[in-house]
Amino acid sequence: MYVILDKKDYARGTIVNIRIEAPEIAKKCSPGQFVVIRVNETGERIPLTIADNDPLAGTVTLVFQIVGKTTALLASRNVGDFIMDVVGPLGKPVEMKKYNKKILTVGGGTGVAVLHHIAKGYYEAGNEIISIIGSRTKSYLIMEEEMKRISTEMHITTDDGTYGFHGFVTQVMDMILSERGDDIEFVVAIGPVVMMKACCDITKRHNKKTIVSLNPIMVDGTGMCGACRVQVGGETKFACVHGPQFDGHLVDFDLLIKRQRTYIEDERISLFRSIK
Ligand code: FES
Repeated sequence: MYVILDKKDYARGTIVNIRIEAPEIAKKCSPGQFVVIRVNETGERIPLTIADNDPLAGTVTLVFQIVGKTTALLASRNVGDFIMDVVGPLGKPVEMKKYNKKILTVGGGTGVAVLHHIAKGYYEAGNEIISIIGSRTKSYLIMEEEMKRISTEMHITTDDGTYGFHGFVTQVMDMILSERGDDIEFVVAIGPVVMMKACCDITKRHNKKTIVSLNPIMVDGTGMCGACRVQVGGETKFACVHGPQFDGHLVDFDLLIKRQRTYIEDERISLFRSIK
């Protein structure tokens, strides 16, 4: 059992940040990894993003958006409540080392949570981080303070102009790469699939390597079921064991978008039944 120590809501409660006590996972997990949780004994297993870990405090921070029955159930848990199972860390850690040039990190929506864990890892490895984070409107922007703490330069965008630059993260990224692309070692772009695809279209033009984090449907999270398969460089990969981070220039984003839409209606019906 894993107790919830802190809970924070964003976007009128539709995005939730919880810090849980999980000393073993906090000690072992590295940036880029995730956990699979089960809220109670009859619950389904779902993968969740690790936004941060504190090995000394023995805590792990998880961020999720309410998209279905299980995330709604988890969001109903409060500080002091327990989550039945948390399995992890899963997935391949991102290699952390000091690079000569700056790293440009770009995050959209809840993707900023994964981005934070990875950017923090690069920062702690001695790198300079330029960050661009965005959301559709100000209230949907997450982890601004946490990203500020690890960035030497930070840009914020909102689609509707309610905060920061009025427009998309891709526009600011394109400007930075055009003006000072030579100072950038590579780009990390994490967010909705369409955003990552748009980022990669731009970084291809600038010939700048781009790491993305894929979030296909997952079942077991251990490479056994094949649910999370993605096409990367013409090969089938399982995001849960070969990723979730990949070279964005090799990812077949159109196929990923199609596969992600497969169960949207079932998810909606399941959520509707659970709140009826
Ligand atoms: S979730 Fe089953 S193989 Fe990846």
